[in-house]
Amino acid sequence: MKLPIVTVLVAISAILTTLISAQASEQEADKFITDLMNKMTLEEKLGQMNLLSIGSDVTGPIVSEGVDEKIRKGLVGGVFNTLTPQAIRKLQEMAVNETRLKIPLLFGYDVIHGHRTIFPINLGMSCSWDLDLIERTASAAAAEASAEGLNWVFSPMVDTARDPRWGRVMEGSGEDPYLGSEIAKAMVRGYQGDKSSQEKQRKDHVALDKVLACVKHCALYGAAEAGRDYNTVDMSQVRMFNEYMPPYKAAVDAGVASVMTSFNEINGVPATANKWLVDDVLRKKWEFKGFICTDYTAVNEMINHGVGDEAKVAELAINAGIDQDMVGELFLKYGVDLVKSGRVPQAQIDAACRRVLEAKYRLGLFENPYRFIDDERWKEQTMSADKLTLSKEAAIKSMVLLKNDNHTLPLNPKKKVAFVGPFVKDQRNLLGSWCAAGEWQKATSVWQALETKSQNILYAKGCNITDDDALIKRLNPDNAMLSKDEKSPQALLDEAIQVANQADTVVAILGEPFGMSGEASCRSEIGLFENQLNLLKALKKTGKPIVLVLMNGRPLTLKWESANIDSILETWFSGTKSGDAIVDILFGDANPSGKLTMSFPVNTGQIPIYYNAKNTGRPYNEKDKYRSKYLDAPNAPLYAFGHGLSYTTFEYGYIKLSSNILKPGETLTVSITVRNSGSVPGVETVQLYTRDLVGSITRPVKELKGFQKVALNPDETKTVTFKLTPADLKFYNSDIKLVNEAGEYQVFVGGSSDKVKDAKFTLRMD
Ligand code: BGC
Repeated sequence: MKLPIVTVLVAISAILTTLISAQASEQEADKFITDLMNKMTLEEKLGQMNLLSIGSDVTGPIVSEGVDEKIRKGLVGGVFNTLTPQAIRKLQEMAVNETRLKIPLLFGYDVIHGHRTIFPINLGMSCSWDLDLIERTASAAAAEASAEGLNWVFSPMVDTARDPRWGRVMEGSGEDPYLGSEIAKAMVRGYQGDKSSQEKQRKDHVALDKVLACVKHCALYGAAEAGRDYNTVDMSQVRMFNEYMPPYKAAVDAGVASVMTSFNEINGVPATANKWLVDDVLRKKWEFKGFICTDYTAVNEMINHGVGDEAKVAELAINAGIDQDMVGELFLKYGVDLVKSGRVPQAQIDAACRRVLEAKYRLGLFENPYRFIDDERWKEQTMSADKLTLSKEAAIKSMVLLKNDNHTLPLNPKKKVAFVGPFVKDQRNLLGSWCAAGEWQKATSVWQALETKSQNILYAKGCNITDDDALIKRLNPDNAMLSKDEKSPQALLDEAIQVANQADTVVAILGEPFGMSGEASCRSEIGLFENQLNLLKALKKTGKPIVLVLMNGRPLTLKWESANIDSILETWFSGTKSGDAIVDILFGDANPSGKLTMSFPVNTGQIPIYYNAKNTGRPYNEKDKYRSKYLDAPNAPLYAFGHGLSYTTFEYGYIKLSSNILKPGETLTVSITVRNSGSVPGVETVQLYTRDLVGSITRPVKELKGFQKVALNPDETKTVTFKLTPADLKFYNSDIKLVNEAGEYQVFVGGSSDKVKDAKFTLRMD
């Protein structure tokens, strides 16, 4: 297509104008910040590097004290955990009216899966494989948070995680680096706007309904040994760069404004003191231009790691290139002496202070420190109707139908259904962990949603969430729902059997309390609690068809359940509209379409388990003894990455390749037909994987390279087409260089990582 010359000239001139004005605004910003910094004392500069918490959320050993006084002295750069426009305005006024240089504060918050309106936990959201949806939820959260006066969110959390014992798997996007990277980008776009609007923001400042994002926890936090939070991490650089680093890098490439370092060590050096990570990788290799903060008291915790005393760990962190010290205040306590004694160069402090001020400039806070604080907008945005609708859409799309024998689901509204379990009437657990400023009292329980849907329902609690007193003691007061029922466990069970006997189908809603996942909430066994399993076993004996609806924050071991229960629906903790979404799916008003993003192991002994593993020198072969396998469990998970059923079925054709050779500069087209072979409309997530058969280093047996969601009516067929270029097949070799290597590749397409069609092609680099 030929464009008229005038159009081309107009376009070029528009690009040039944008570039010139962006440059001019950068120069303006630089000059403003330089002038300001010329007036600042060393202590005031260290103040910008001090990030404190005011509020109830304490996730570490220290609580910030005397914050008001420190703000007044210009010794605080930002605060977090403060909510409501009134409270935020009060602190901002203090910073602007009562300090020498009137530098406004940053206001951060853990907006993890929604702010006031809560969306499904991030692991659930990732099971939607819907990047547009994920971006919209982040965008809605940004609009709600910014209307409250917040300007910085500690999200996205993009730690690749392959150990479901680790409680924080609920906050991330599962085990795959490619999907994790796509989601990281979508979330940054949602919070901050896309790249082009971010460019504009350099000139016009961050839009009022956007915030600065903070990618965390850099790096490798999800690889804590034994799935125990804060534990040691140790991994090769090949694994690190191919499997764990990509999502952080993707967020950086998407323009994320800040990075949070992790609690763990990398190559023996805590991330927060790791100059290689912060300076060589983040700043030099990835060209990250924003600011870097620590996690909660991570500087102080390096004393426990055993790398120095208070002054030493402060020195290590500053010299590594950290810009803000979260809660620990050691930069403030030792910074002046460290500079005076020459242990920390003044230039290091200047660079850190400048980066924090740049963020404030970008937010437009120097022009108007109160620009985000607006009571009217707050009222308008908070839990607005569109956000609640989005919350329901997200909940529906994140749920995964793990099993559905004999069409037990959807339920027939004309038949009698017994709803059993301690989660049926529960609201508190629905929001999950890290539910920020969400109010559980506003969440819809399954029972509330049922009352408007069907008259034909019975209820029995069936059991307490757990009868394990030691566990209850550990979890309370985190979870009031754990207080035991006045009725004895036997009386609860008897009631459940009684209602089950009166019903045509039994729906048991069981799972973990929300406090069993999230930070510092790891488990060594990840099955249902004994009393819940006993209830299920007793229900099974009634001979009625049983549906198990799960609420939990991680993959669970479901060996007995999957062998004995007719249908299993994984709903995670799906947020404010959980109840409505679950009931819509149960009664077939919505068709499940979620697909797992973390493997469900058969038992904890299989962990870590992930689809993109290596082949080993002795891959599994059932006839051969000396193979990589267990004697008492299969190698395969119970439910694989990518698995998820629908109320309809999909039939895949054969893979068609545009060529069996791919060369630099070329694109290989991979297509396949998908037919809805069932009787209701449905949505399928078609997944594309490749395997590099021979490499200079060993390569995974499968790697996700693309996915598409297709909506199909009964009997409808669509051709799904993917494009692969050599760039998609690059990997980090043993010199940590991103390379293509010529050779044979397998390509797989299917509806789950373990159910695929395959074909072969050759990558030629000549
Ligand atoms: C968590 C972070 C969180 C921070 C601030 C820490 O304990 O690891 O994810 O952003 O607290 O609340």
